[in-house]
Amino acid sequence: MRPVKIEVQAVSKVFGRDPKGALAKVRGGMDKQRLKDETEHVLGLHDISLTIREGETFVIMGLSGSGKSTLIRHFNRLIEPTGGRILFDGEDILTFDAARLQAFRRRKVAMVFQRFALLPHKTVVENVAYGLTLDGVPKAEALRRAGEQIALVGLSGFEKSYPAQLSGGMQQRVGLARALATDAEVLLMDEAFSALDPLIRHDMQLQLKDLQARLGKTIVFITHDLDEALLLGDHIAILKDGTLRQVGTGSEILARPADDYVARFVRDVNRARILLCGAFADAGLIVAPDAPVVEAGATLEAAFAAFAGGAQAVAVRNGDGRIKGALTAQRVMEALARE
Ligand SMILES: Nc1ncnc2c1ncn2[C@@H]1O[C@H](COP(=O)(O)OP(=O)(O)OP(=O)(O)O)[C@@H](O)[C@H]1O
Ligand SMILES: [Mg+2]
Repeated sequence: MRPVKIEVQAVSKVFGRDPKGALAKVRGGMDKQRLKDETEHVLGLHDISLTIREGETFVIMGLSGSGKSTLIRHFNRLIEPTGGRILFDGEDILTFDAARLQAFRRRKVAMVFQRFALLPHKTVVENVAYGLTLDGVPKAEALRRAGEQIALVGLSGFEKSYPAQLSGGMQQRVGLARALATDAEVLLMDEAFSALDPLIRHDMQLQLKDLQARLGKTIVFITHDLDEALLLGDHIAILKDGTLRQVGTGSEILARPADDYVARFVRDVNRARILLCGAFADAGLIVAPDAPVVEAGATLEAAFAAFAGGAQAVAVRNGDGRIKGALTAQRVMEALARE
């Protein structure tokens, strides 16, 4: 398994005048609503523990107010927990002094915001290089590195343009290039694509996946959009009212939602595009040697064409090349039927 990058240990966050006192009440059983009504404190997060591994895209989902931004802001200590710890590469970031924290924020983590937050009077290349020059990188070197990142996000030729001359999607890519230019190991993306229209958004999602595959960064990605979460996330965490309801891969969550809330959350998703053939292959079913073959890691949708072509069953092949079992159309339909 990949090494752990970020470890969140029993993190709680209460907003208000006496967070520790209020947290004690929560531990005594008071819920978020009563805490608010009776003490005017807001429970942001309650007892969150999770593990984010190196090189994965970890998605945080939940309704508005569920604590997503509060959680991600703990990862670069824009917010400090009322209780609990955050380990980054095994080190407790709460122990960092000011100098160490500054170095950590510049080199280890970069944040990509929902609204592009570009400097309007600077060109694209200057915007991307800005963090580097702040960090003391000589100007020529900073511009060179910025140029590379701009090419990576597909904006070559726009280096000298100003943000206002770019579309929203292009501006968001400049924001992404800026985060990449810092060479940070972890990208924190808080609804980074939410302001984009659907086509551009999908384009950015694919581009991020591609960058992720090439650069191997660890990405923490917040979204409201389940399709986006399932497309990007190696793991998905679902928050409700500051508590963690479930963490798992997309197909794990779809196959076994932890509770009614999660089940409602994932109800409308296209299961054929998420559930994997390997999970439903029947090992006892013998197929003809010339039967169509699908990979165990392919989604059920991959089997549709074979059935449409008249096949009775398709063989499901493991990564090692061996046949794991078979799928019938009946079996696929059962997998797709929710209850
Ligand atoms: N600085 C603050 N002071 C008081 N309460 C806060 C503060 N920041 C967040 N909260 C509260 O903490 C809870 C979680 O907020 P948070 O911004 O993390 O939600 P979110 O899941 O990111 O929502 P959204 O999807 O709307 O961005 C909310 O009840 C919010 O009102
Ligand atoms: Mg938020």
